Amino acid sequence: MNESTDALLTRFRAWLQDAKERGVPEPTAMALATVDAEGRPEVRMVLLKHADARGFVFYTNLESPKSVSLRARPRAELAFYWNPPGRQVRISGAVESVSDDEADAYFASRPYLSRLGAWASDQSRPLPDSTALARRVACYGLRWPVGVVPRPPHWGGYRVVPDRIEFWEEKTFRLHDRVVCRREPDGSWESTPLFP
Ligand SMILES: Cc1cc2nc3c(=O)[nH]c(=O)nc-3n(C[C@H](O)[C@H](O)[C@H](O)COP(=O)(O)O)c2cc1C
Repeated sequence: MNESTDALLTRFRAWLQDAKERGVPEPTAMALATVDAEGRPEVRMVLLKHADARGFVFYTNLESPKSVSLRARPRAELAFYWNPPGRQVRISGAVESVSDDEADAYFASRPYLSRLGAWASDQSRPLPDSTALARRVACYGLRWPVGVVPRPPHWGGYRVVPDRIEFWEEKTFRLHDRVVCRREPDGSWESTPLFP
């Protein structure tokens, strides 16, 4: 069956909204799988911050291991799992950086302490002692006690531009519903049911 990007987005949004309404904790949390320059797979959770026809956006430290890997191999897979009702969505595609304007706008919407935290955290690098992070947040708080905290140069977003989206829905006796949608050269999507 041939489907449009809008139809797939509508389905994704309906599932995400349903998870929110059911009180699933962290419904925007998604596993982000990457491969490092040596071919080693890595996976960790990040939060979806925006989804539209262009792709699925998350934000992070641009000097973190995931960013180093994405620069070397700009491809990733995302996986959401919502229970209840027992649904999984996998999204695979090329990864691109979000624009500076887009990252600035999202950064400005974050709470003040989160903005200071983005300056203070050397994400994934060794923490010298248990107070180091709080001290660094306090230092940046002195630098920007009020008003605008600029976006750090080492902080930004990535967009996963999907070419494959899979919807999985739990059914009784493990006879689950599964459909994979692959992007065609004309931009439409060919969806194929799969054995679970
Ligand atoms: C539920 C959850 C959400 C998270 N969201 C983010 C996020 O949006 N961005 C981020 O950089 N790290 C996020 N993290 C932390 C990452 O999982 C990870 O520890 C961190 O980004 C370092 O990853 P890296 O060393 O592979 O670069 C989140 C962790 C959890 C458990």
